Amino acid sequence: IPPDHVTIELQTALIKGYAHCGDMHNAMRVFRDLFSKHKQGQWKDMQVEQRPNVRTLNTLLRGCLWTAANVSHEDEAGANDVAGGVVSSEEAWSLYIQYSADHAPPDTSSYEAAVTLLCQAFRFSEALARIEQFQQQFNIRIKGKASIKAGDADHSVLETLGSVYLSLARAYAMRGDYDELWQAAQRSLRAIESSRKLLSEMSAQGNEAEDSSKKKQDFTRGGKRGWKKDSAERQTEQRNASNVTYRHHRLNEMEAEVKAFIKMRAERGDTNNNPKNDPNEAICNLITSRLFYFGGGGSTELSEQRSVLKKKKERMKSTPEALFLPKWQSFGLAEFSSTTATATHKEKNAVPPKKDVQSHNQWFNSDGQLQTSAIFGDGPARPIDLELGSGFGDWIVRQSDSHGERNHIAVELRADRVYQIFSRVVLNGKRPLQNVCIVGAEAGSFLEDRVLQGSISNIFVNFPEPPTQTYGDDRVELDKVESGELEPAHMLSCATLKAAFYCLRPGGRIIVVTDNRWYAKLVCVTLVRLSRQVKSIRAANSLEMPGFREIENFRNGIKMYEGQPNQEIGHAEESSTNQGGSYFDRLWRTGTSNFAHRTKRFVVVVKRKD
Ligand SMILES: C[S@@+](CC[C@H](N)C(=O)[O-])C[C@H]1O[C@@H](n2cnc3c(N)ncnc32)[C@H](O)[C@@H]1O
Repeated sequence: IPPDHVTIELQTALIKGYAHCGDMHNAMRVFRDLFSKHKQGQWKDMQVEQRPNVRTLNTLLRGCLWTAANVSHEDEAGANDVAGGVVSSEEAWSLYIQYSADHAPPDTSSYEAAVTLLCQAFRFSEALARIEQFQQQFNIRIKGKASIKAGDADHSVLETLGSVYLSLARAYAMRGDYDELWQAAQRSLRAIESSRKLLSEMSAQGNEAEDSSKKKQDFTRGGKRGWKKDSAERQTEQRNASNVTYRHHRLNEMEAEVKAFIKMRAERGDTNNNPKNDPNEAICNLITSRLFYFGGGGSTELSEQRSVLKKKKERMKSTPEALFLPKWQSFGLAEFSSTTATATHKEKNAVPPKKDVQSHNQWFNSDGQLQTSAIFGDGPARPIDLELGSGFGDWIVRQSDSHGERNHIAVELRADRVYQIFSRVVLNGKRPLQNVCIVGAEAGSFLEDRVLQGSISNIFVNFPEPPTQTYGDDRVELDKVESGELEPAHMLSCATLKAAFYCLRPGGRIIVVTDNRWYAKLVCVTLVRLSRQVKSIRAANSLEMPGFREIENFRNGIKMYEGQPNQEIGHAEESSTNQGGSYFDRLWRTGTSNFAHRTKRFVVVVKRKD
């Protein structure tokens, strides 16, 4: 492409592509290049529209949310390069504010992402300063504990205000700072209530269409459809209606969490006055022993099959330092272990202390696999269950809470969700759950490289995402998958199911629950394909599936069942207060999802023969 045709749209798309597959090193390389034009004095000849804008910034920040800080092979100068998570978001933020903010200031999404990442790393003073900038930019004043004057701010600004204070409250809660937690939670709650009020008023007046078309004309805004001007008008109405439903759903979710924090302060707050263990030490121990990050990204697209991942894995270092670095930089260990005077981790490419790295080795065996007996500290006797694609962690937290006699591992691709799961585990009930370990990784690579074969009792998969590319409802395509031809990109590929199968103990099960019948078929034909390679697979028979109806049979005895998940397939019973296995379950019920009408559950269970 001739250099003058390389538009900012194209460069942003490139950043997006890298961010989706978790390659933040290259995403940052492109982002930095955009700003080096400024340094070389080329910006003065450039139209404002062709400079990096808030959509470019937000695309990069979204990648930082999905992928925590990690180390790649040496750069040209021979140094290790660290990118991803808060390391890159802070670098990108300062470049952007210095050179681009005048013509296109950060928007609500930018602030939300930047504050979330700072809070995840427990960088409180910077998070507070960023919230202050946000309030100034949007003309919000907060008096006393939680009296908010928001001028002419709209519902989305107030939603962001609610969200940034919620992030702050969550981080304070995890550190046991109950007074700070209370103030942040009150502010979040007030902002949520005000946002909801404005949203209801606006949708009652039917103003949303007008409001959103105004936004679309403004190239400096970072909304998802910032550049799709032509199709915007036609679908505006429908999209606005579902946007309003989604906004209400999100506000409800935020409100439920914030109220739980306020209650927590009432229950646990007086410990502030009691002599107690160092709260920093408590959270450090949990980050060290219960949270592991091996890389990830924002997309399930494994379309170029394993080769891309393999290349990426080769590039990603697997040294002890590299395994330790994400939790040190992105998940807060550095912040706890350094004083302000020695907070050198904020310098790019800072190296974690050697003694911490060495001690981190205790969680791995000599093949680099997780040493679960060390992690759970109870010897190998307790059964271990694992969930792939845990999302926000609702299901695994409930499951671990109800099955204290078992250990659990949650595996999730996206770093922001890994942190959400971790926070739920830490903040569950009166004390952190002791029988869960959270892993940030691509499911297939994790099972292949980090789990001891024959060590897992059950592998659960709940509502996995179907392939993202258009893939027909067609038997021909399913036949192709079954016969060994190219598969569509999704988490439960044949290679991942094979790796999962080898991780099972004899008698162990893989249990997949979905609301999408076609997707259940795809899983079944993939299992048929696998059963030709691995002889010890056996499908669960009807006697082993009480409460389920057999609805479809496939080759080699693979079967699809219909029915609501129950204890027979290892799911904990839902209590009446916790109605809903998972976040996605709740999303369906509120009517927010496109598939809200789907109430049927399709279940596929296979066993490893005893
Ligand atoms: C539709 S959500 C379901 C989440 C959760 N199980 C629930 O029911 O609420 C699917 C989750 O799988 C994660 N995911 C997708 N591909 C993955 C992969 N290859 N490895 C690990 N996690 C993956 C996604 O990030 C997402 O959080």
